[in-house]
Amino acid sequence: MASIDPKIQSRLIRDLEPVVAKELNRHIATTRDWYPHEYVPWSEGRTFAGPLNGDAWEAKDSRLTPIAQDSLVLNLMTEDNLPSYHTEIAISMGRDGAWGNWIGRWTAEEGRHSIVLRDYLMATRGVDPDELEDLRMAHMQVGYQTPYDNDMLHTVAYVSFQELATRISHRNTGKISQDPIAEQMLARVALDENLHMLFYRNLLGAAIEMEPNAAMRAITDVVTNFQMPGAGMPGWGRKSVGIALAGIYDLQLHLEDVVNPVLRAWNVFELEGLNSDGEQARLELAAFLEKAAEDVIRFNDKRDAHFERLEARGQSPIRLKTLLDRKSEGAELNS
Ligand SMILES: [Fe+2]
Ligand SMILES: [Fe+2]
Repeated sequence: MASIDPKIQSRLIRDLEPVVAKELNRHIATTRDWYPHEYVPWSEGRTFAGPLNGDAWEAKDSRLTPIAQDSLVLNLMTEDNLPSYHTEIAISMGRDGAWGNWIGRWTAEEGRHSIVLRDYLMATRGVDPDELEDLRMAHMQVGYQTPYDNDMLHTVAYVSFQELATRISHRNTGKISQDPIAEQMLARVALDENLHMLFYRNLLGAAIEMEPNAAMRAITDVVTNFQMPGAGMPGWGRKSVGIALAGIYDLQLHLEDVVNPVLRAWNVFELEGLNSDGEQARLELAAFLEKAAEDVIRFNDKRDAHFERLEARGQSPIRLKTLLDRKSEGAELNS
């Protein structure tokens, strides 16, 4: 991973400021404000054990499957680390002029995501509230640290992919929840993430025009080292494997629905006039994508074999694909 000349970075931060202002205005014109409290079924709520002497949470209170619980918790924990993301972004982009306005707006919007997710889970008793709080305490104390310290170009490239990754992850978590209330809530959150992606993607698009070689380096570093922001939270390994197996977020989705669309929007493989550093970065990217496509086939084969084994043992593990197939069959039967 190469760090980018700080002189190029500070020139870009200055030259991109009008783009940030324009994109912020476009963002505000296209977003519709929404209210987290309207998405939560409050009348389902019940007081918990503790100072108010309610009822302790029991596993049977939740209508969510274990995989839906894991995915919701993982998404909520990821959103909970907003103070860390805010810090990292403010350090790498600076808060001058339009940059600061964007960071403020973005942070306030992101705040809605953990509010609505937690309120939903508490009102519906969807997960163990004590376990959730213990996990949040542990996770937030570790915080999130970017591998791209003080590096605007790498940071903007990273969030372009990461916002889209969270969009897919929220949307598919909604689908696998088999709860229309959760699905509606997560579709709303996913829409925000998509608009955030558009902002960062357009911003990096402008950076590519100004500094194509440095931008190419940043894109390659980010794609070839990509990790979800929640990686490293307690229980991440087990939960993320389950989530990949269930098809909520796996390598194929990552490549086909996240990496490739963003690269296409930037015309990365059609860019002309790169110098040898830029070309080198692009070759690394192409080689990585080729290898990743092979990994997808291998993973999917292994997963199919894994599910066949489970089914042979009489278990019926939950897969997003099967749920969606069933849903579309149902829709056909009804039509
Ligand atoms: Fe979010
Ligand atoms: Fe976002």
